[in-house]
Amino acid sequence: MTQNQQLNSIVNQLVGATDPEEVKRLYKQWAASYDADLDSFGYVAPRIGVQLLSQVVVNAQALIHDAGCGTGLVGTLLTQLGYSNLHGSDFSSEMLEQAESTSHYHSLQTLDFGGPIDVAAEAYDAVISIGVYTQRFNQHFIGEMVRILRPGGHFVFSCREQYYDEVVGTVFELLKSKFIARVSVHHDDYMTGQGASAFYFDIQKK
Ligand SMILES: C[S@@+](CC[C@H](N)C(=O)[O-])C[C@H]1O[C@@H](n2cnc3c(N)ncnc32)[C@H](O)[C@@H]1O
Repeated sequence: MTQNQQLNSIVNQLVGATDPEEVKRLYKQWAASYDADLDSFGYVAPRIGVQLLSQVVVNAQALIHDAGCGTGLVGTLLTQLGYSNLHGSDFSSEMLEQAESTSHYHSLQTLDFGGPIDVAAEAYDAVISIGVYTQRFNQHFIGEMVRILRPGGHFVFSCREQYYDEVVGTVFELLKSKFIARVSVHHDDYMTGQGASAFYFDIQKK
């Protein structure tokens, strides 16, 4: 198998996985080579997500939660732009170890987005979550990310094209319930080596 075929196989297994333990196992195997592999695969999502966040969160001291931080690619890009108050979470201890080694996060915690999370309401100025959304999260994830935002805070996240309708449904429920003030959606590249694009959402809490 060529390197591209191997990467395609990992990514496709992850996209198709329905068992969280299987997802954890795949990330455990992948953690050490994840950054180099995705770099060679044109994984541009962190750069696009961070650019979007930097347009709406201008205070470099903002308290930012990187949900599903993985190895810390988003934290590295945010640090390069001058953001210094970063916190991260993930359910894979091997990915968290890689994130820890970047030294860009004030704190890292183990969280599972498959259900309610143990984080105080209104704790963060902004939340960013890139490459993480999956249908396994059902409706918990977006609601939980909005809950931990302070009023007026922003939640920026990516979702692959196949999840768009489901995400829009959840977001419109939050709009109708007046939990969020506004939403913008941007369609852009995701993983250029796979020809994949994604939707990037910016949700502002009311
Ligand atoms: C494709 S990686 C993205 C990592 C990072 N945000 C980036 O852009 O490089 C997806 C991350 O989500 C994490 N993840 C997947 N399912 C999760 C869950 N149920 N709870 C918490 N983290 C999860 C994985 O462990 C992995 O680190």
